[in-house]
Amino acid sequence: MGFFDEKKCVCFGKRLEIMALVECKNVCVNYGSFVACENISFSMNQGDYVCIVGANGSGKTTLVKSILNLVPIKSGEIKIDRKNTGYLSQQSMIQRDFPANVWEVVLSGSINSGRLFYSKSDKDDALEKMKMLGIVELSSKPFSRLSGGQQQRVLLARAMVAAKKLIVLDEPVTGLDPLVTDELYSIIKKLNREKNLSVLMVSHDVHRAVQNATHILHLNKSLVFFGTSTEYQKTDFYKEMGNVEVCTTHFSSCHDANCSASHVFKTGDMR
Ligand SMILES: Nc1ncnc2c1ncn2[C@@H]1O[C@H](COP(=O)(O)OP(=O)(O)OP(=O)(O)O)[C@@H](O)[C@H]1O
Ligand SMILES: [Mg+2]
Repeated sequence: MGFFDEKKCVCFGKRLEIMALVECKNVCVNYGSFVACENISFSMNQGDYVCIVGANGSGKTTLVKSILNLVPIKSGEIKIDRKNTGYLSQQSMIQRDFPANVWEVVLSGSINSGRLFYSKSDKDDALEKMKMLGIVELSSKPFSRLSGGQQQRVLLARAMVAAKKLIVLDEPVTGLDPLVTDELYSIIKKLNREKNLSVLMVSHDVHRAVQNATHILHLNKSLVFFGTSTEYQKTDFYKEMGNVEVCTTHFSSCHDANCSASHVFKTGDMR
């Protein structure tokens, strides 16, 4: 890791240089005269799971959008393979009353591929992601008729279909119940660990972030911290937020009235 720090490998005597998957160098983003992100530099490699944490208004969504070229940067440099990137926005760009059924919404994630028609492998992939998220039975339902949580799962499946190398998720568990939240985090972790899918996720759940992510990026307009989750846990920022006993047995879905530990949603939530 590190900025513009290419991995150097030796293979059959030849030195191969693996470029980082995402590279940001001195990125600044303004809304008019308001500075939202200031001088941010970091890079991530294929297989990394980077969690962006920070208080409300600290520039997390702005940074993600600038990486995806959805907001212009004032200065700096960003390199990313956007074609192979899937994105689930904080408030989805697909209107909640979008006139399509679930299957069509999920499959539309393959549009990134640049082809005019969906191939059999696009369709197989869409079905696989729908199975993972338990939404196959919703396939022919109009998207607009689903509950908020169901819509969120459909949009996540769509982002997964688009994500050939990188998935960018801005607070993906919003609106999901604790059980589905747990499930979703484990699916994302599985995709990262087993399929080598890189993950860039915005989250307020700091405890879960350090458990799942390989790296933490802590923002407060500018970069407060960027490094491994293990390093982050030794910092004062983390200790301040995590200075409360957390119930790791019951975790987020704990409803045990006799459990004396504080819980993730209370203690790890930076809002
Ligand atoms: N389109 C916009 N025009 C003007 N200001 C904006 C715009 N979008 C965001 N901002 C401002 O930029 C700052 C950073 O916003 P951003 O949405 O990136 O924060 P965030 O860290 O994602 O917050 P949250 O945790 O609440 O989602 C905030 O002060 C916000 O008010
Ligand atoms: Mg945000």
